[in-house]
Amino acid sequence: MKKTSLFQTTPRILMGVGSLDQAPSEVGRLKARKILVVTDPGLVAAGIVGRLEEILARAGLSSNRFDAVEPDPSIETALRAAESARGAGADLIIGLGGGSALDVAKVAAVLATQSTPIEKMFGIDQVPEEGLNTLLIPTTAGTGSEVTPIAILSDHRDKLKKGIVSPRLLPKAAILDPGLTVGLPPAVTAATGMDALIHALEAYTSRNATPLSDLLAEQAMRRIYGSLRKAFADGDDLAARANMLEGSLLAGMAFANAGVTAVHAFAYPIGAEFHIPHGIANSIMLPAVLEFNLMGNLEKFGHIAEIFGEPVGDANARERARRALRAVQELMEDLQVPRRLRDFGVTEEHLPALAAGVMNVTRLLANNPRRITLADAESIYRKAL
Ligand SMILES: [Fe+2]
Repeated sequence: MKKTSLFQTTPRILMGVGSLDQAPSEVGRLKARKILVVTDPGLVAAGIVGRLEEILARAGLSSNRFDAVEPDPSIETALRAAESARGAGADLIIGLGGGSALDVAKVAAVLATQSTPIEKMFGIDQVPEEGLNTLLIPTTAGTGSEVTPIAILSDHRDKLKKGIVSPRLLPKAAILDPGLTVGLPPAVTAATGMDALIHALEAYTSRNATPLSDLLAEQAMRRIYGSLRKAFADGDDLAARANMLEGSLLAGMAFANAGVTAVHAFAYPIGAEFHIPHGIANSIMLPAVLEFNLMGNLEKFGHIAEIFGEPVGDANARERARRALRAVQELMEDLQVPRRLRDFGVTEEHLPALAAGVMNVTRLLANNPRRITLADAESIYRKAL
């Protein structure tokens, strides 16, 4: 049993339709004069970056822009964003976008103020000093990056995803405006929504779960499971979008403190090597990992089935837990998310190296409700093949 636990989150969270309009007052609270907006080209094209800049300009605030964040952002992108922040003399970074843009914003903020090379910041608690203030504005309901002390970057040389985990990455404030997510196409809604659901499910069944993280994870699962089909079916359903964004926030708060488990661990090696988007990589691995994990915590997996609205009344503990698995499989079918690794070019020959790779993700495997051996890892990948 763990003796102590720590709970940390973003100190100010503004939520609601139209909350983007309050960005200037958050900037004012932070006494910022020079703002760098870190974002991606898609959001520029969609006019969302222009909207934020206009809101800032109306309040007399000018800003510079770094809009070159790509999906699965590289270490080099974070370095270039930090260079932009230094060049602009920025005292505040606003991250606007999905998890990629928010993660780059968080890393650029700490790189901009200190000379420690980025290679020395990977791992847990390796950021020596506070960075620039950040304000994060998510435009997808997925990563929960606005409340996590984590940023994931791709190292193209080593074909690896590397994480920086430090409370110094937590933003000073976040703005969650569901209106920003209405333009997401159904496939992105599905992939990012599955990621958020998996955050909640993994935080809930993590060995580091606490009563506080459980509370958040349960509410997150209820909201996301109850709204994901609606948001997928009709992207303009603002109530469903709001539930998804709040759900991903709650899931982020839960996993930032309780951790995620083996689904994420198995997703990292395939994401890095086969360029499978994070939400899809997680979804593909979910059924195989879940089936393996059930016996590690039948009670909690059974409770997940209840949260998902599965009938559990007469079932025994094992059967209840299996109904959670059935519910996520049906959800994935409805959302038409890819189900197999082979659709992304993975073959039987790749499995030993992938299994060896997953055994290195010790930070996440330590949280898993069931211990995993190298042979287990290979057979789990084989099930998802
Ligand atoms: Fe994730």
